[in-house]
Amino acid sequence: MRPYRLSDYHERSKHRLNRYAPGPGWLDWANQPEAFRSFEGAARIELPLGADLLAARYNDLRRGTLQPPQPIGLDSIAILLELSLGVSAWKSYGGASWALRCNPSSGNLHPTEGYLVAGQMPGIDAGIYHYHSRDHALERRGAWLASASRSGLDRGFLVGLTSIHWREAWKYGMRAFRYCQHDCGHAIAAVAYAAAALGWRARVLVWPADAEIAALLGLNRDEDFAGAEREAPECLIWIGSPGAEPAIPAPPEHWSGAANRLSSKHVGWEDIERVAQCTEKPGTEAIAARSIAPPASEQLVAGPRLDLSAARVIRQRRSAQAFDGETSIGDEAFYAMLEATLVRDGTPPWCAWPYAIEAHPMLFVHRVEGLEPGLYAFVRDPQALEPLRAALRSDWLWQRVGPDGLPLYLLLAYDLRDAARAICCHQDIAADSCFALGMLARFERARAEPWRYRALHWECGILGQVLYLEAEAAGIRGTGIGCFFDDEMHALLGLQGNAWQSLYHFTAGNALEDVRLTSLPAYAFERPRSPARNIR
Ligand SMILES: Cc1cc2nc3c(=O)[nH]c(=O)nc-3n(C[C@H](O)[C@H](O)[C@H](O)COP(=O)(O)O)c2cc1C
Repeated sequence: MRPYRLSDYHERSKHRLNRYAPGPGWLDWANQPEAFRSFEGAARIELPLGADLLAARYNDLRRGTLQPPQPIGLDSIAILLELSLGVSAWKSYGGASWALRCNPSSGNLHPTEGYLVAGQMPGIDAGIYHYHSRDHALERRGAWLASASRSGLDRGFLVGLTSIHWREAWKYGMRAFRYCQHDCGHAIAAVAYAAAALGWRARVLVWPADAEIAALLGLNRDEDFAGAEREAPECLIWIGSPGAEPAIPAPPEHWSGAANRLSSKHVGWEDIERVAQCTEKPGTEAIAARSIAPPASEQLVAGPRLDLSAARVIRQRRSAQAFDGETSIGDEAFYAMLEATLVRDGTPPWCAWPYAIEAHPMLFVHRVEGLEPGLYAFVRDPQALEPLRAALRSDWLWQRVGPDGLPLYLLLAYDLRDAARAICCHQDIAADSCFALGMLARFERARAEPWRYRALHWECGILGQVLYLEAEAAGIRGTGIGCFFDDEMHALLGLQGNAWQSLYHFTAGNALEDVRLTSLPAYAFERPRSPARNIR
């Protein structure tokens, strides 16, 4: 039997016009996964709620202008978690209520779990902690017996991200693995933005093997996951002095806590298990060279119209469920959103992203003042221009439009609302918005090194998070779109070969609010708004 290949998974998990990717067929509500993971028996630290006190403005962050770094300790790490993986509101309707978080998730299923790997610091003993977002609490999973084992954690700390594939597979079946990866990308960006709001820079570490991450976070401990859904390692993010990234600490010797079981029954998705194995990351040394983008100060267009605090933009982020189908946005606002997707080394979330830029928005512009409706390409890395031109339909216009220096190209002037809706699984949000887009990613990278399949999706998730926050700052709203007919998008672009694939879609416009829903505060319990002073 030939070995399982990445392309087997990718092709089988495509939605097609005549057949959706294999899914459960119906929703087994009795087995809906518990919304929150917890580790029973682990000691807990209840975190203070301090995000309201942050002075950082979103428009400064997106320019790379950060406040002086906060001292690292319980209060500041609590804010980091509150503004990245924390709950942002509760919604209720018809007797049901559900949490929304700062990081979005396909189907609001939240497969991403967060961990803190910390040395000794004010308010936190050295150890490995799981973050419980509903309770805004840390659960202490691991402790080292000797301080030498955690050397390197005196100049910063690590945030670990993992995925529980079952959470997404319960609803979406085979395609769920992709959604877990998108969500991880959103979470990486959420951590990077929250870190920047505290004056810190986050950086995804490139060298750890998945097996090392699993051992460090205790994911490989069968005894702690008896009967519970396993977590797959995704990445470690360093937050601390730039250039002082530590060697991966040895796994702690002492562990506590047992993972809760999320569903009483499970449906196995063999393709997910196999693609997870096939895309397992080995330890790597080299950092892929990233093309150098202009420094943060060289803004090409004015920033967003609204000037909001970073915490507000992060917490008010929501997915639009419907757009009005009428509103246009100004071209400056549109260009500013696109510009924020360009990699600038000091700018969150891109300062956290160590890999080469591989994903490029292909835009369906519907309602942008001063721009003809049509198909546009935004080429984030100049080196990708020629390969993209060669891969796409040969008679596209490739006419440069917009401000000098912004790599935006008109391919075809045309009303593409029906096409956008059809490609996005017939979802109206793709047509009623101001614009929609698909992210065309250099898939050949993943064929050469399968673990990069996950990294390509992460990059797309990061792009999505940028667009979500930019939409809020521009006074509109966005929605990530994981449901799209892959090859219909490729056919529309006239894509030849499979060196490129569209991996994630997005849409943004003037949202219609669902007035039936009631909103409740994220954390209604009493916690100190610590520290008492304003955080600058
Ligand atoms: C990877 C991903 C794919 C998504 N796909 C869709 C989609 O196809 N259609 C849709 O209406 N919403 C989609 N969403 C939006 C989610 O449903 C939304 O994030 C979730 O319900 C949580 O709500 P919030 O974003 O307002 O916090 C997607 C979100 C993500 C992160």
